[in-house]
Amino acid sequence: MKQLVLASGNAGKLKELSALLAPLGIEVLPQSAFNVTEAEEPHPSFIENAIAKARHASRSTGLPALADDSGLCVDALGGAPGVISARFAGEPRSDARNNALLLEKLAGQADRRARFYCALALVRHADDPQPLIACGEWHGQILAAPRGTAGFGYDPAFIPEGHELTTAELDPDAKDAISHRGKAVRQMVAHLT
Ligand code: IMP
Repeated sequence: MKQLVLASGNAGKLKELSALLAPLGIEVLPQSAFNVTEAEEPHPSFIENAIAKARHASRSTGLPALADDSGLCVDALGGAPGVISARFAGEPRSDARNNALLLEKLAGQADRRARFYCALALVRHADDPQPLIACGEWHGQILAAPRGTAGFGYDPAFIPEGHELTTAELDPDAKDAISHRGKAVRQMVAHLT
């Protein structure tokens, strides 16, 4: 069994990735098991930040590492909130304040197009010149008012294309099957296979 560190503290991501990678002979370990400090995410693109996080986790543990970086990009806002999605309305981070700010910025705006984006990066070692990259996008529209209680982040404000429910009203398993993160994970598994 080969070992891989997941550069994330999210238990849901660990469980999902462990299940997908176990059949490939890969054991996914949480970075908390190694006391990895929080990585800097100074870059303007998701892919650069995912690579930075993966390199940081690999450097701290001496193991191959997988990292993800994701967020919401709104067309009418030039791609914002983008890489600062989690802290769009500042610190301390708050999904409610982030959603309120998003809806305020889009007040009166007819173009409501947006997409969730997820970048995954896997490095074999900290200085790997050839990280494996996988990306997923999920297109939709931003509502005028939030709806639904499931999920997290901007889920209550986002209606995926072809749906009438927001991502906060969808069944979580149904969301994973079609989301930006689900697409990126399946692409990474295909690379590894
Ligand atoms: P993370 O880096 O994947 O933890 O996500 C960064 C931020 O992007 C989150 O805090 C959310 O604000 C937003 N985001 C990413 N993916 C989703 C999603 O599936 N639903 C809602 N918001 C998301």
